[in-house]
Amino acid sequence: MFGAVQLGLFAACVVLFVPMGMAGWHLSRNKVLFFSGALFITLAVGVHLTPYFPSVSDFITSVKSSSVVDDVVVVEDRDSCVSLLHEIAWEVRPSKVFDPFLNNNSLNYDKLWSWSRMNSVESCEFQRLKRNDVLDLLYGSWVMVAGDSQARIFTLSLLSLVLDSERVESARSFLFQRHSDYHIVVDEMGLKLDFIWAPYPNNLTNVVMEFKQKHLYPDVLVMGSGLWHMLHVINASDYGVLLRLLRNSVTSMLPVSPKSGNNEPAIGSVPSVRSPHLFWLGMPTLINSMLNTQKKRERMSDAMQGEYAREVHKSSILREFGGPFQLLDIGSLSLNCGIKCTDDGMHYDEAVYEAELHVMFNALLIESHQKL
Ligand SMILES: *[C@@H]1O[C@H](CO)[C@@H](O)[C@H](O)[C@H]1NC(C)=O
Ligand SMILES: *[C@@H]1O[C@H](CO)[C@@H](O)[C@H](O)[C@H]1NC(C)=O
Ligand SMILES: *[C@@H]1O[C@H](CO)[C@@H](O)[C@H](O)[C@H]1NC(C)=O
Repeated sequence: MFGAVQLGLFAACVVLFVPMGMAGWHLSRNKVLFFSGALFITLAVGVHLTPYFPSVSDFITSVKSSSVVDDVVVVEDRDSCVSLLHEIAWEVRPSKVFDPFLNNNSLNYDKLWSWSRMNSVESCEFQRLKRNDVLDLLYGSWVMVAGDSQARIFTLSLLSLVLDSERVESARSFLFQRHSDYHIVVDEMGLKLDFIWAPYPNNLTNVVMEFKQKHLYPDVLVMGSGLWHMLHVINASDYGVLLRLLRNSVTSMLPVSPKSGNNEPAIGSVPSVRSPHLFWLGMPTLINSMLNTQKKRERMSDAMQGEYAREVHKSSILREFGGPFQLLDIGSLSLNCGIKCTDDGMHYDEAVYEAELHVMFNALLIESHQKL
């Protein structure tokens, strides 16, 4: 056992110093080959030590996943990075203006978020985009967000990132006129942004039908729906039926079929047409005791929420289940941000939607094979 620990330390030293050495000296090809060989053998030995030495085990897994796979060239595994996009950690702490008598979480707490420090997440190099990066990414694009109040807050967060505060305030007052659509063109970046009030899944299907009629499709389409149906219809299977209709309508709109494990285009597709980037804005985590009406507390129970979530899965609307939409998982972000990030148990602090926006930006970067 003692020998194993020593070997483990030795392995760690070699793994650490060999690449540093290679970077520092001008080595001949033979020497580089020799050192890569040494590195590989060390790793192999390390792998056998892993059961005895947990810290070496962590270290080796991280090195293996980045370099050994493909000869020291770092392979960026896009799919695995997409699955790590929501590995976000929150730090929620009382703000300077904390007032225990003010029952207002959004004012009483500061919320900071960042991607997890796990090695696998760090190797994806997710980044929080600065205003200029957002302008570059969305330059000349048509972005549409359609859905309920969550979609509205999401739209406002996007505007907060690209507009100055004065224009954000004026957008806010338009957006929050109840149940209205909102359109804006941000001239300096050629960005066209539409918010469409579409609280039920069938409203979303209508939006998609309209694209088909006009043969005009946005570059980025964010849709989400569920809360209204849960509150006013309370019939999960009906929700599922509507989601399937939406899925079929979206799928037939797409020039290529959604990825379902393999990336082959559908038969008879027109691959030259650019298909929109599709995102599904998931439902937030509802905190039943905080909901602000009796009707909501009764109807939007945890059980009902579970049934609605199951219908989302069953309808295969999401890409992870073979569907067209990539999930923007407000559910997990809001759950992790927690009870201090909401005043009404349903709408969360803008920080949650802002984090989700950066998730979307990074998904777009991955999808379009871009690096900033
Ligand atoms: C909390 O404060 C915000 C910002 O001033 C305000 O918009 C919101 O209505 C307040 N919420 C409650 C429950 O008082
Ligand atoms: C959404 O659908 C509902 C139910 O079919 C309908 O009553 C409502 O008018 C629609 N709303 C919009 C904005 O299209
Ligand atoms: C729920 O929706 C399904 C599908 O639309 C329908 O067949 C069923 O009758 C509805 N249930 C109730 C209780 O309304």
